[in-house]
Amino acid sequence: MHILDALQALKNDFDEAVGVVESVEDLEKIRLTFLGKKGRLTAILRGMGQLSAEERPRVGQEANVIREHLEATLSDKKEALSRRDLVAKLASEKVDVTMPGSDAPYGNRHPLTQVMDDICRVFIGLGFSVADGPEMELDEYNFTRLRLPKDHPARDTQDTFYFDQQYLLRTHTSPVQIRTMEKMKPPLRVVVPGRVYRPDAQDATHSPFFHQVEGLAVDEGITMRDLVGCLTLYAKAFFGEETEIRLRPHHFPFTEPSCEVDITCTNCGGSGDFECRTCRGEGWVEVLGGGMVHPEVLSGCGIDPDIYSGFAFGIGVERTAMGRYGIKDIRHFTDNDLRFLRQFR
Ligand code: PHE
Repeated sequence: MHILDALQALKNDFDEAVGVVESVEDLEKIRLTFLGKKGRLTAILRGMGQLSAEERPRVGQEANVIREHLEATLSDKKEALSRRDLVAKLASEKVDVTMPGSDAPYGNRHPLTQVMDDICRVFIGLGFSVADGPEMELDEYNFTRLRLPKDHPARDTQDTFYFDQQYLLRTHTSPVQIRTMEKMKPPLRVVVPGRVYRPDAQDATHSPFFHQVEGLAVDEGITMRDLVGCLTLYAKAFFGEETEIRLRPHHFPFTEPSCEVDITCTNCGGSGDFECRTCRGEGWVEVLGGGMVHPEVLSGCGIDPDIYSGFAFGIGVERTAMGRYGIKDIRHFTDNDLRFLRQFR
């Protein structure tokens, strides 16, 4: 076969093969077959040596035209196949934006956290700031400097979880009164939310750990009326405008005078219905203890009790939350039953 015919045959075969090729990989095989180092064009051109001097340029020119045709066709085809593949890929990976999303469950704060925050918020509105103290506390702060020396009989009811001679789990948030007065000088107003521990056996109304919000205000000329005023505002803001408070005399070593504070029952409205399960016919529910900061507690922190006076109170958080939501058993707070917790969204 004449070399020009061979070239023509190569071109025909090539066009035919490219005409039906379906993939980039097969196209590459075609390129190797026709244009590769061991391919058909190279093989044909090897025969050029046998051509006469007149024929050689003509054949050379023709071979170049064919090579260019092969290269251009291959590159066009490759681009076309790649684009086709991309379009198919995009179509198959298309995101269906109308499909329902996967549900991202959201949580809520624990009801006790919510109630502590709500209590604090009322007092923040009255100019108090929020303070903090450790749960592992010094005996000195928890008892001694609150006028409960080592031999004081009132320690018995609170004697608690000791780590050693010095440290214990605090039995109330009142040690933060001392910590605050050591750091800040009057006028000062703080609330202290936190967890406390007592050796109480667990039942529907008792737990070996619970929460309190402590309050402390020290300034010149603070009297019991300021305490009553603040707590009345608190009770109305927290439990409703119709709520009233009453003070009963009590004793705490670190306040003088001391009181326990009741609010009108949130369940029976204070009517004292003897079937009311919240107040058991009392009409009142105890919510906190308080009083005027004892002068010796003030002077123990370097505050002159002849110039300054103060009030303090400690609100029971669980009790408050149970009254607000009608919860009958304190253990619900720590059972971690989501059916209970999810009600406080
Ligand atoms: N710390 C007391 C208790 O836990 C409550 C209290 C706080 C009383 C502040 C007076 C002043 O029972």
